Amino acid sequence: MKDEHYMDEFLLSETRKKLDPTPEEMLRIIFDYAAKIANERNLDNLLMLMRDMGRELIVADRCTVWLMDTHKNQLWTKVAHGVDEIRIGSDSGLVGYSVSTGQPVFIDDAYTNEQFRQVLETGALTVDRQTGYRTKALMVIPFRNNEGEIMGAYQAVNKMTEAEQFSQKDLEYLTLAASYAGKSLESALLLQEIEETQKEIIFTMGEIGESRSKETGNHVKRVAEYSYLIALSLGMGQEEAELLKMASPMHDIGKVAIPDAVLKKPGKLTDEEFEIMKSHTTIGYGLLKNSKRTIIKTAAIVASQHHEKWNGRGYPSGLKGTDIHIYGRITAIADVFDALGSDRVYKKAWELERILNLFREETGQHFDPKVVQAFMDQLPKILKIKEEYRDELLG
Ligand code: C2E
Ligand code: SIN
Ligand code: SIN
Ligand code: SIN
Ligand code: FE
Ligand code: FE
Repeated sequence: MKDEHYMDEFLLSETRKKLDPTPEEMLRIIFDYAAKIANERNLDNLLMLMRDMGRELIVADRCTVWLMDTHKNQLWTKVAHGVDEIRIGSDSGLVGYSVSTGQPVFIDDAYTNEQFRQVLETGALTVDRQTGYRTKALMVIPFRNNEGEIMGAYQAVNKMTEAEQFSQKDLEYLTLAASYAGKSLESALLLQEIEETQKEIIFTMGEIGESRSKETGNHVKRVAEYSYLIALSLGMGQEEAELLKMASPMHDIGKVAIPDAVLKKPGKLTDEEFEIMKSHTTIGYGLLKNSKRTIIKTAAIVASQHHEKWNGRGYPSGLKGTDIHIYGRITAIADVFDALGSDRVYKKAWELERILNLFREETGQHFDPKVVQAFMDQLPKILKIKEEYRDELLG
């Protein structure tokens, strides 16, 4: 009796037991999700659809879809939009056991199970102690691609029906769910691989532009992160902000064509040298403008407009106000903030206060006031990034 009372505290939300779906409900779930899954190209969304489908099919309290990352020897999952993915070592925990042996795992009660005592102790039971959750039933099933290689695993926690434990039938349903998603999963993985490759190439191109002028790769990383924060703060959508983040590292790509005598000159440039320097904007634009790819098109805008000024006195075109693309106005601030805060061959880094004073003076002159405001709002996060990606001291 005492024990039951104790359990009630943990299982309040479980007091009303659910039923396994009827065959009709099962069909509806499969039908609904299969249609959505077939049309989903985004890997994160796909993982979340698979998770929800699995959870509904087997009436689990929690469900997680893990994918193998063979390059990093890790398993990873996405639990929600806007939240970082979670990664674990590919041999860690029950999921690691399951994908490395190819065997499903059934645990009826995590608190009394002996076979997986050690793993449970460092996994579920530790988490339970921290969260007050009560893990009882656990199931992990590996799933395979068309070639029969294990590509990931479903992990389910707590069966919400009277039975309170997962069955062979549940295993079959999850296997079925995984097979419905298999094709979409493989094409989404391929698409992601292509996109990651594109990002890497683009980033490397940006670094080439900067490395010629002895600015480290961290400069382009910081400008990318600052631009992203400012864009979000201006109310730009997540996807567009990410697009700008990918494209902004290329703002100075045109510097590849600037002669060393100008680019690496330790002192102040003559007017003539500065004219040559300015051409990095139009050269960059020329390199990027013919692409049909959204990222490259975005990069072309950034390359050509990041030295335009709000008051119309910038270069190369002397565009004014909102005639300057918002991408250009954002990158302008991100770039100048980073250039001023860093040592250059031609100058020492400025103190933060001095930079902020310049920004105040240049509001409505060099910079769009709205964008300066967004920058100021994001300053704490921006300073964190500056610290995180600070330049290594040169030996
Ligand atoms: P950068 O070094 O990446 O600087 C980007 C922008 O940050 C500059 O664009 C400018 O708006 C701002 N900035 C950087 N340092 C200072 C500074 O000491 N004072 C002020 N007020 N603003 C600064 P800008 O001027 O159009 O220059 C474009 C690029 O031309 C620079 O990129 C740099 O590569 C080169 N550059 C500019 N001035 C000189 C110079 O005197 N000597 C050399 N060697 N290169 C220069
Ligand atoms: C995201 O894509 O990460 C956020 C937008 C959404 O929740 O759909
Ligand atoms: C895992 O495989 O680490 C999850 C299982 C558990 O919570 O112990
Ligand atoms: C924005 O896109 O955040 C503002 C639009 C603009 O200023 O052009
Ligand atoms: Fe530039
Ligand atoms: Fe730059």
